[in-house]
Amino acid sequence: MVFVPTRGDAPLRHGEGVPLLPEGAEPSDLDVSVYLDPERFELERTKVLNRSWQIICRSSEIEAPGDHVVWEGHGETIVVTRRRDGGVAGFHNVCMHRGARIVKESGKGARRFACRWHNWTYDHEGNVIGVPDREDFCAAQVDGLASPPVECDEWGGWVWAVLAGPGVAPPLLEFLGEDLVQDLGVYRMQDMLLIDKLTWELEVNWKVVIDGFNENYHAPALHKVSAQDAKDGRESTFAWFGPHGMMVVPYKGVLPKLKETRDHQSLAICHYTVFPTSVFNNNPSHIQLFRAVPLAVDRTRFETWELQYDPQGDVEYLDAVTRHWERLKVVVSEDVEIYNEVSAARRSSAYTTNRFNDHECKITHFHSVVQQMLDA
Ligand code: FES
Ligand SMILES: [Fe+2]
Repeated sequence: MVFVPTRGDAPLRHGEGVPLLPEGAEPSDLDVSVYLDPERFELERTKVLNRSWQIICRSSEIEAPGDHVVWEGHGETIVVTRRRDGGVAGFHNVCMHRGARIVKESGKGARRFACRWHNWTYDHEGNVIGVPDREDFCAAQVDGLASPPVECDEWGGWVWAVLAGPGVAPPLLEFLGEDLVQDLGVYRMQDMLLIDKLTWELEVNWKVVIDGFNENYHAPALHKVSAQDAKDGRESTFAWFGPHGMMVVPYKGVLPKLKETRDHQSLAICHYTVFPTSVFNNNPSHIQLFRAVPLAVDRTRFETWELQYDPQGDVEYLDAVTRHWERLKVVVSEDVEIYNEVSAARRSSAYTTNRFNDHECKITHFHSVVQQMLDA
């Protein structure tokens, strides 16, 4: 049987006694310099992006020792590898000799990594283990040398990393928090299969993309949902847990039933924004990860990952989920089109202020968390 997530005794996120909006949700204005200022982007790199846990790849992409993924974003290049003891390790992909990128591409089963320029070699943790003509250096230059480590961990079938290294962010599960771990945990993403991954390069700031997936106010206009769906959509609930947030968006025509069940993930999109750059769009039977990879102040790689359960030979499941994924690809392409419209206007003198309503409160919350990290 195909796995069906159930919430057990996880807290209710919709229905009886659950407010539609979190306490403190209010309309707000935001100066658009937060999307445009290159100096701010530099600070976001070091103080927000490099100091937070971010998704790098699926655990299944680095299954065997030496399997490795080269990940690049916000000016950084890192390697994450499967260690011989089964854990994951990561290090900055920068040769400690004269700065060449050590590993060009993701690959399988590497016993060590060699820089092509002068053949310095590195182990899975980024320690320098070989220096040709070592005696020509001072011992102090090369003894015990390593490329700086990246802190890595796994949860939900994902490899996560903190680029600034160990001990900078709280441990992964603490960073995600009990609510998110419990809520997202019921989907057993670690058992899901990666079916598809789509990538776009957009000329917008990364936060424009996260904003776009932090509300469903745009659904009636951009995605042309029916009048009834738009009305039901007004009964979506919004919440935040620490820096993260969620919304529960009712499926078509299910509102009365949704109000009665604890298993609202079976009748709604449960949608989780995992600070800073990931959004999980959890449909009842399959999940999309929307991942913004900041590249420059006005450049972002936008990825959509499609996860499905093992169909276990269930042709109906496979057929339904495949058809739904095809429809969702069209929906996501509509979001991408609108990011291009934001890009087209981004240098206009008239682009000065974003105005958020109280149902866009998750955006307001997200920007306040970014600001807090910048101010810390
Ligand atoms: S730059 Fe890598 S070995 Fe010289
Ligand atoms: Fe959308």
